[in-house]
Amino acid sequence: MRRPILAGNWKMNTCRESAGSLAAAIAEQVPASRDDVEVIVCPPAVYLDSVLSAASGSGLQVGGQNASDQDPGAFTGETACTMLTDLGCSHVILGHSERRQFYGECDGVVNSKTKKALASGLKAIVCVGELLEQREAGETQAVLESQMTGSLADLSADDMTSVVIAYEPVWAIGTGKVATNEQAEEAHVCLRTWLEGRFNSDVAAATRILYGGSVKPDNAAGLLSQANVDGALVGGASLKPELFIPIIDAGAATVA
Ligand code: 13P
Repeated sequence: MRRPILAGNWKMNTCRESAGSLAAAIAEQVPASRDDVEVIVCPPAVYLDSVLSAASGSGLQVGGQNASDQDPGAFTGETACTMLTDLGCSHVILGHSERRQFYGECDGVVNSKTKKALASGLKAIVCVGELLEQREAGETQAVLESQMTGSLADLSADDMTSVVIAYEPVWAIGTGKVATNEQAEEAHVCLRTWLEGRFNSDVAAATRILYGGSVKPDNAAGLLSQANVDGALVGGASLKPELFIPIIDAGAATVA
């Protein structure tokens, strides 16, 4: 049984006050004793500390949205993975399509960041997903396999206990155009099959694969009830408790 993960990627949104109040509202839903689902929020780096304070004592986990593949040193503007663990973060999102698209992150960079994150004690949420033109050209499976091969290079089966995969079709991110339940399930099956071939059946069975891209309260139940969809990485709807909490509930309903 894979415990569902509902993760909020706040991207470059919120301010100091709203980050704290949003985290507090979500933390209220996630007592430390909650064990049906895992809930994670990933605020902008500058608000991590206040969000961690708001989450303190609850079961709400906090992650970064990106981190450096370098150890602390002369890297202006970067955040070291060890700084995230030092603050109390449990996770870091790596290889989000916005990082790949706007900041030129290729699979090799995602791979070195993933290795650094794991070595620093973080769990990595590694994102993959195809562009619309790649889907239309029938290349989805090849793109996903190539991103997985590059992003997870050199990792061992043991390392994979600290890796979560997020399938985020780029055409569904922030567009309101959600993948159908069938499209999501098909991609997740492809990713799980790849995990089995690259590692083994235990890794394939245990690794959580999240869906991301225009997840909202009205489509969450359908997506999350797919056999190979183990949670959601939520952008816009994670910024409002009245939208994110029903998505948490939809995840919980799949294990109830
Ligand atoms: P939206 O939910 O806003 O489409 O964003 C998805 C996403 O990119 C999460 O990482």
